[in-house]
Amino acid sequence: MKHDEWWREAVLYQIYPRSFADSDGDGVGDLPGVIDRLGYLAELGVDAVWLSPFYPSPLADFGYDVSDFQAVDPSYGTLEDFDELLRRAHEHGIRVVVDLIMNHTSVEHPWFAESRSSRTSPKRDWYIWADSRPDGGPPNNWLSAFEKCGPAWTFDEPTGQCYLHSFTPGQPDLNWRNPEVRAAMREVWRFWLDRGVDGFRVDVAHRLMKDAELRDNIAELAHARRHVSHPLGRQRHLDLPETFDVLRDLRRTLDSYEGTFALGEVPISDDRRLAEYFGGDGMHTAFHIAFWEQPWRAAAFRETVDRLAAYARPGALPTYALATHDISRTVTRYGGGGRPRVAAAMMTTLRGIPCVYYGEEIGMADAPPPLDGLLDVDGRDGTRVPMQWDETGAGFSRAAPWLPFASDQHDVNVVKQLDDPDSLLSLYRRLIAFRRDSPALRRGEYRSLDCGGDVFAYLRSVPGERLLVALNFAPHRTEVALPELPPHGRLELSTGTGEAGSPVDPRSLSLAPDEGVIVRIGGTP
Ligand code: NOJ
Repeated sequence: MKHDEWWREAVLYQIYPRSFADSDGDGVGDLPGVIDRLGYLAELGVDAVWLSPFYPSPLADFGYDVSDFQAVDPSYGTLEDFDELLRRAHEHGIRVVVDLIMNHTSVEHPWFAESRSSRTSPKRDWYIWADSRPDGGPPNNWLSAFEKCGPAWTFDEPTGQCYLHSFTPGQPDLNWRNPEVRAAMREVWRFWLDRGVDGFRVDVAHRLMKDAELRDNIAELAHARRHVSHPLGRQRHLDLPETFDVLRDLRRTLDSYEGTFALGEVPISDDRRLAEYFGGDGMHTAFHIAFWEQPWRAAAFRETVDRLAAYARPGALPTYALATHDISRTVTRYGGGGRPRVAAAMMTTLRGIPCVYYGEEIGMADAPPPLDGLLDVDGRDGTRVPMQWDETGAGFSRAAPWLPFASDQHDVNVVKQLDDPDSLLSLYRRLIAFRRDSPALRRGEYRSLDCGGDVFAYLRSVPGERLLVALNFAPHRTEVALPELPPHGRLELSTGTGEAGSPVDPRSLSLAPDEGVIVRIGGTP
């Protein structure tokens, strides 16, 4: 690994700043709050944090509608706080990745204010404007990614045209065909890179370019996507090759800042298409979206992991998350008990970059919708509730939190789990520490194995270290037969009660219900 490719061996941690830690007692998490918790993150063992947006925003999409790309929203602190966070994180050996939202701005961004002011405004063409159809309908059949928002077009009275918004009407899409937009966004990249950020998470990276003729999406495809639960997946737009130009441009800029990288959010479940977006001359890695759409079955995970591995460019690494601020939490999707433990073992041992969403390490669940109604337009409040530092909530804020806590904070919290060797938090720490010490997990080859049962088994290997990972997805004990493996092994880690250090025969493992194990083949460390 080249020194500046640290991200290849990193464990990431996603912080949703509103909900992580509130230092000034207004019920909203902030950047100084993150600084206060860097020690916790260092002990967890993560190498980098990805901060969801903290830029000024009217919150139509909770920060993904940005009204100033080069500032910090006062509710999160100041630019000085950001610089301090960067400095202190680096002192802890933790890098910082920030969200880059390039597809759209907020309606309140001055660029848009200017663009909508008249048809002849110099920034008119910075956004995508079109006439309504003769019958008064929107210019084409494109839909917003959010069901509630309906068409992706809003008629704007003052100039009598519609503007495109792939998300809420508060998020007009930028026109990336306009060179001035590209130049303005390059400045945004440099603004954060010059401050010292270590990378970008690129929001909806595949959707930057729109069909120049604004042609309708193909009806059948739009229809076929309707069952997809992912908020961004309701309609298929064509992947336009020009989008890759933009991503290459971003890459050229990143290449001039040593040790930086781009992590794409490319919410397409088609692994073949996804594979085109990372590992080449564009973004370095991208989330493996289909991974978080799988039912709790070993074969389902194996299939999607193997498929993306087969399509990915040589050496390319996907990023694995179990949950995000858009996706329900692991415990909510799969249940509690042993499953989140097996899921954690899977995410931290696959060939790829694990990304832990805050609170996943203690097994937080989605909270039921707030009594006075959902705040988020797409119903994602439940997965964004405040971090459960302790049973009273004081660890998050001394004020009432912006979103109510989940009701299980008394049982599920950091304080309770910190010193309990059997807690999920302790398991996460063990897994991350084990990965850090294991060349095979950090950079080894991956090969999945046929072993029957509801078990996902794979080898991770480098010259000198070979590990077998076997994950039992079944709620009952399962005997695993792997006759091709050598007879001697040593149990390194069990998500259940298996005792680390005990000798095992990798050819025939017996896994407890919902147990995952890491076995060193050959037995010697
Ligand atoms: C993806 C983000 O993760 C999501 O929260 C947001 O709503 C959309 N992109 C639009 O920016």
